[in-house]
Formats: sequence, structure tokens, C-alpha cells
Amino acid sequence: MKDVKIIATGFAVPEHVVTNDDLSKILDTSDEWIVKRTGIKRRHISQNENTSDLATRVAKTLLSQSNVRTQDIDLIVVATMTPDNMTPATAAIVQGRIAAEKAVCFDISAACSGFSYAISLARSMMLTNNWRHAIVIGAEVLSKLLDWTDRSTAVLFGDGAGGVLLSQSNATHLLGQSLKTYGNKGDQLIAGHLDVSYDILKNKKKLSAFTMNGQEIYRFATHEVPRSILKACSNAQIELDQINYFLLHQANSRIITQVAKKLNQPLSKFGVNIDEYGNTAAASEAILLAEIIQKNRIKPGEIIALSGFGGGLTTATLIIKY
Ligand code: UT7
Repeated sequence: MKDVKIIATGFAVPEHVVTNDDLSKILDTSDEWIVKRTGIKRRHISQNENTSDLATRVAKTLLSQSNVRTQDIDLIVVATMTPDNMTPATAAIVQGRIAAEKAVCFDISAACSGFSYAISLARSMMLTNNWRHAIVIGAEVLSKLLDWTDRSTAVLFGDGAGGVLLSQSNATHLLGQSLKTYGNKGDQLIAGHLDVSYDILKNKKKLSAFTMNGQEIYRFATHEVPRSILKACSNAQIELDQINYFLLHQANSRIITQVAKKLNQPLSKFGVNIDEYGNTAAASEAILLAEIIQKNRIKPGEIIALSGFGGGLTTATLIIKY
């Protein structure tokens, strides 16, 4: 085996849609502000499905789209910052539900870069262990972690999951990558902090809601994402112009426009679906990839730059020959 290739893609989102107008009824915000500043028009918010439910729907779609038998899956990785539980891992819940008995399963936490990190990691494990098939999913129910009275974060996020089925290949598909972490900037985006509480009788265990220095993350993204893409291209030994599609984490349509401008690439090469789903963190690149492949917009042999950025802080770009 030389490499791994994407043989199926899929996504799942909750049915319930919350529009900007819906939010303007409970928050001091407006459709005009949200669309102009972010590009978001709607988001799908879970009413009863947890992260593992969405991830399981994705896993079933991936299997139904391929000839791979469930019992032949060697690995399941779920990238998420909103797991159902601290333990068991979301990936283990998925494994139990689809009965992929052989699969090694765990979650990874790299926020909005999680999906790219997870593909990179799954590929390495497949190559090292000579594993044939892996399911990699990005899944989030971010609505669990939102403070619905905070307009600066509540309007930005949505729930959803997406994923890929990776299989062994004799051709090269991951042409190059660049993964980076900026732990010194980690406090700019925090969600789900759990305080140490020695006072055993108080028994209060509450996760903190999402907080973010939006302007700082915006600056970080518009500065570091172009660098990450350029570095990955250089590692892949390809020119930027050879990339057919740039699939960036969907955090803000203005970030996508800025990155396109900085790279001097036409905006038409950049996938955008933030209008429909909002920011779905680890799920966003996976949903975008699945949607675009479903629409037959990416042909075999074309080159994709998959680029995530966010909490950690982190960046992650994979250059993939589809
Ligand atoms: O996936 C993780 C990575 N996250 C990101 O990449 C997010 C990056 N950051 C951003 O996308 C943008 O910074 C935001 C969309 C979060 C905010 O946009 P902004 O243009 O940076 O707005 P701002 O924070 O500078 O706020 C401008 C104004 C403020 O009012 P004043 O002080 O000018 O009177 C805010 O209070 O907009 C106000 N504001 C709102 N107004 C209506 C903030 N949120 C809202 C809102 N509705 N929802």
C-alpha cells in the first residue's frame, strides 16, 4: 500500500432549521448584521440528536455508498469538541451502533481543524498498521455549548456531521500537508471549561459556554490560513494554481474572501456553504466536501486543499488528489 484514498463521503444535519430572523426574536441582532458580517443565513440545530447520533448517520451513509463491509472497518476516528460524554468516545458509540467489531475507535479534539487532523492521523495509522479501511468523521452539536443570550457567539454556530471512508490505494493521494498549533493563543477561543472543585459537597460540575475573541481569531485566520495553504503546497511540491478547489473551514464568508484575495486565487475555486449551516467546527470541512462531491463538482484526479483553523489555536491544510 502506498497511500489511502477517499472512497465515499457523507453528511448529516439535524432537520430543525433556525433562521437569523428566528434569532432576532430572542437576541438583539438582525438578519442584516449576521449576513453582512458572516454570510450565515440559517443553521441546523439539534432538538433530540446528540453528536453520536449524527456521526452514526454519517457512518451508515459511508457504508451504504461503498462495497466495504462493516466488519472490515479497521479504524473509526471522530473529531469533535462536543462529544456526548467524556467517555465513552463518540467513535466507540458509533462502532457499537454499526457493529464494526474489528475497528479501533477514539475521538480527537482539535476544534475546527479536527477533521483535517483526523484524516492525517487515520492515514498514518493505516499505513503503519497496514489497515485497509477507516471511517473519519467530524461531528458537532455545538448548540449544547452555546450561551443563547450571547449574540456575539450564538448566531455563529450550527450542528452537523460529515465524514469520509478511507481505503488503501496504490497511488499517492495525500500530496502534502501542513499542521500547526499555537497553544500560546489558546485562550482566544474556549468552550467547555470544567473547573476543579475540591469542595466535594458542593458537587457543582458545569461546563462553560463558548467564548471567543472574534476579532483576534479573524486576524489569526486571515493571516495564518494562507500561510498554511502555501506551506502545504510547498510540501506537496505543487503550485497554488494547480489546486482546483479550496475547501476551507466555514467560519465566516469574509475570511474565505480574504484568503482568496491573499492567495490571488479566484473566489469561484472556494467552496461555500456557511449560509446554510453556519460554523459547524470539526464538521464543516467534511460537510462541504461531501456536498461538493455529491454535486459532482470534483472529478477524480482533481486537487483539493482542505484547510481547517480555529481552537487551540490550530491550522491544518491537506493537499489531496481526489
Ligand atoms: O471556528 C472558530 C473560528 N472562529 C472564527 O474564525 C471567527 C472569526 N471572527 C469573526 O468571524 C468575526 O470577528 C465575528 C463574526 C465573530 C464578529 O464580526 P466583527 O466584524 O469582528 O464584529 P465585532 O465583534 O467587531 O462587533 C461589531 C459590532 C459591536 O458593536 P459596537 O461595539 O460596534 O457597537 C458588537 O457588539 O457588532 C456588535 N455585534 C452584533 N450586533 C448584532 C456583535 N455581535 C452581534 C450580533 N448582532 N449578533
